[in-house]
Amino acid sequence: MGERLLIDSHGRVLRDLRVSLTDRCNFRCLYCLPETEAARNFYRGHWAHMPNPAPIAQQWVPKSNILSFEEIERAVRIAVGSGIQKIRLTGGEPLLRKHAEELVARVSAIPGVTDLAMTTNGFLFPEKARALRQAGLHRVSFSLDSLDRGNFKKITGRDGLNEVLEGIRLAQEIGFHPVKVNAVIIRDINDGEIEALAGFARERQLSLRFIEFMPLDSARAWQKEMVVTGSEVLGRLQRRFELRPAGTETPSSTSKRWMFPDGQGEIGVISPVSEPFCGHCNRIRLTADGKIRTCLFSVTEHDLRSRLRGGGADEAIAGWLEEVVLQKEARHHIGEPDFVPPPRSMSCIGG
Ligand code: 5AD
Ligand code: SF4
Repeated sequence: MGERLLIDSHGRVLRDLRVSLTDRCNFRCLYCLPETEAARNFYRGHWAHMPNPAPIAQQWVPKSNILSFEEIERAVRIAVGSGIQKIRLTGGEPLLRKHAEELVARVSAIPGVTDLAMTTNGFLFPEKARALRQAGLHRVSFSLDSLDRGNFKKITGRDGLNEVLEGIRLAQEIGFHPVKVNAVIIRDINDGEIEALAGFARERQLSLRFIEFMPLDSARAWQKEMVVTGSEVLGRLQRRFELRPAGTETPSSTSKRWMFPDGQGEIGVISPVSEPFCGHCNRIRLTADGKIRTCLFSVTEHDLRSRLRGGGADEAIAGWLEEVVLQKEARHHIGEPDFVPPPRSMSCIGG
């Protein structure tokens, strides 16, 4: 081990593993788990004339199928031995997993993990912030789609704006850096808040990233007309603010970055639908129930759990992983006639 590399059949070297700690969530975002009345009204109301395929019958993973911390740690060790460097902990909502900080400590202690991040909706972050920091979490990204209390509740199903804002403030106070905030923009829901969100980034010196709505919602309500493209977002921001390009972080980085003239705060535009970056994708995912997914939009999953529980050696699992990544999809097919959405929602796949 150590000499191994995960290389797919398109020549992409995989460096980034996203690990979902649970498929469950304390929010019901209308682009992910649109089970609330507000979500139904939105899709039935304004967009009711659009044809929709059948919704996904949301099924939570039984507890016995959820990987234990020992199993996740072992999986990460094997992946790191095969060249993975970055680990991002996700969900569902990762902080719903009891003692998530213990897993953070285990993963951060693995030699070869150069970057350990978490994506959270932020609601439980205030009570976990210090423990996560102490456990060795390097970076945190929050999801925040609205700065308006009512709109926040409509989008997420939860009256939790203040908790999330407090989480973001605390993350900065205790030294997480950079603190990133992700906003999914949906037409007629929160596109009116684009400028306000950018202003928030500047005022609070945050990295605010605008993400295009992708067809990963459990209602299968996504329509391309609802997508506010990255270039539309940027156009609007450039009319309001003087923005300077800040370059891209790395070739595999998904976001195009922009700075304000005073250097306070940063804007990122992530356009997976209108400008796919699949050619540079270096990510794979491990779901909470132990399946490897080689793409957000994979329609097949690869069963690591049975291998972890089946008594196989690390070496054999590493070899299996090398075979699995050869099947990584070249790209997604959103918006094309042959597009098939994945059978599970984003909450189950892991952002
Ligand atoms: N389209 C785009 N982004 C999504 N996320 C969840 N569902 C979708 C979707 N359908 C985002 C969340 C979070 C990250 C994990 O994924 O907002 O920031
Ligand atoms: Fe919202 Fe994330 Fe929860 Fe999905 S998993 S409902 S996007 S907070």
